[in-house]
Amino acid sequence: MFPWVIALGLGSLVAAGPCDIYASGNTPCVAAHSTTRALYDAFTGALYQVKRGSDSTTTTIAPLSAGGVANASTQDLFCKGTTCLITIIYDQSGTGNHLTQAPPGGFKGPAAGGYDNLASATGAPVTLNGQKAYGVFVAPGTGYRNNAAKGIARGDAAEGMYAVLDGTHYNGACCFDYGNAETNGKDTGNGHMETIYFGNCNVWGTGAGKGPWIMADLENGLFSGVNTKNNAGDPTLNYRFLTAIVKGQPNQWAIRGANAASGALSTYYNGKRPNANGYNPMSKEGAIILGIGGDNSHGAQGTFYEGVMTSGYPSDATEAAVQADIVAAKYATASLTSGAGLAVGASISLRAATGRYLARDSSNITAEAVTSSSDASLRRSASWIVRTGLGNGACFSFESSDAPSSYMRHMNSTLLLESDDGSKDFAEDATFCPELGFNGQGHSIRSWNHPTRYIRHYSQVAYIASNGGVNTFDDAVDFHENVIWEIVEGFAG
Ligand SMILES: *[C@@H]1O[C@H](CO)[C@@H](O)[C@H](O)[C@H]1NC(C)=O
Ligand SMILES: *[C@@H]1O[C@H](CO)[C@@H](O)[C@H](O)[C@H]1NC(C)=O
Ligand SMILES: *[C@@H]1O[C@H](CO)[C@@H](O)[C@H](O)[C@H]1NC(C)=O
Repeated sequence: MFPWVIALGLGSLVAAGPCDIYASGNTPCVAAHSTTRALYDAFTGALYQVKRGSDSTTTTIAPLSAGGVANASTQDLFCKGTTCLITIIYDQSGTGNHLTQAPPGGFKGPAAGGYDNLASATGAPVTLNGQKAYGVFVAPGTGYRNNAAKGIARGDAAEGMYAVLDGTHYNGACCFDYGNAETNGKDTGNGHMETIYFGNCNVWGTGAGKGPWIMADLENGLFSGVNTKNNAGDPTLNYRFLTAIVKGQPNQWAIRGANAASGALSTYYNGKRPNANGYNPMSKEGAIILGIGGDNSHGAQGTFYEGVMTSGYPSDATEAAVQADIVAAKYATASLTSGAGLAVGASISLRAATGRYLARDSSNITAEAVTSSSDASLRRSASWIVRTGLGNGACFSFESSDAPSSYMRHMNSTLLLESDDGSKDFAEDATFCPELGFNGQGHSIRSWNHPTRYIRHYSQVAYIASNGGVNTFDDAVDFHENVIWEIVEGFAG
């Protein structure tokens, strides 16, 4: 049926990459972004660039072979013992539509100069056909953009796009988008965007169930179909690996999706432009965004592995072949932790290089001097029970031995002890992924939902800190030392 999709034993994943397939369908890629693999069979160039925290130098990651999976070893060796951020996601299409740190727009970002944050290079490990690779983990505040993109649809011109996402990583804030947006970073009116959106934001459109849904961000609205509000044909989707498609041409557009690990695409909407002013004809501007709204709204979260934008409206048959190619890439989960494992149920204490231990002081968490002869309440306050991660079962949560059902969680980057309120936000803020310590010993403990941030003591107070970020507690001086924790048997036994 699709003779160009042939699994090969070695070398490239398939005989044609997604962009070769789109080109065969006369709807060529004009932007092709992936940190995990080449999207053309012949592509051997740079997939993405990372910058490391230790000396601010950069390196690029290329496929292992033409058309193949990213060489994660390049990143692993370069980033060993320090932090790394994804600085550039290269465009493989030859159009030069690279994505870089999003500048301030209608909203300022949280990083220096009002830019959005860059993603951690290690927040979204996966395997493709058994080979390790890294996706782009977008925490709230993170965004990439190209306001000077070339060749992307403008006005009412036809385009298509797909993205492979993590269907379990989302939120209800605006807006985890990938696609066509305003060139000035501001809301310039209805119909000035056309992107894939994924999440459970219910301010504008919704689909069936509670979400998350694939919708289209067309500016001043997330749309799930022809109605501006609910369209029951757009299902809640939570495939771990999700293929999401949005495409548009004069007075027609579609939402499609699938499990990226198996099976075929379904069409969730295919019809006229929404029943509201300004969407027919469209006024697309042709910039590209990832992880943010067109006006630089940056409250959303999600994970991006690969995606493309095409010139022209791809046929369903072309998209079926692209979906088959994605399935053949065999996306699978990889370990989120490294270093010595933690046993769920164990009682632990966390010792800093200073010899102090992480302890709760009422609802604060601080670094305290504790010994085996300290009084029982101080010893309990410095003891934690390892639990399966409340927000992600591949990581961990730390329940206080001193206050059952209360966990370490971060809030506004400060570590606090709070009682579990059962919310998704609490669960995610209370989930941590220990890695081998930056000094090769002990652990450095990454926040699951803000993977650029690690548990750090600073002036004896505990934070989740990024390396050289805008807060005083992000100070790059002593960062690596202050995020090393020796995990020892809990004082409370
Ligand atoms: C992958 O990267 C490592 C580290 O940079 C390098 O030694 C190796 O040759 C690369 N592999 C391929 C196939 O290019
Ligand atoms: C907790 O920390 C805050 C901010 O540093 C401080 O104002 C407050 O007094 C602390 N509470 C306790 C019980 O130490
Ligand atoms: C969050 O922390 C930053 C830096 O410490 C501070 O400027 C800001 O006011 C805090 N925001 C809230 C809501 O506490």
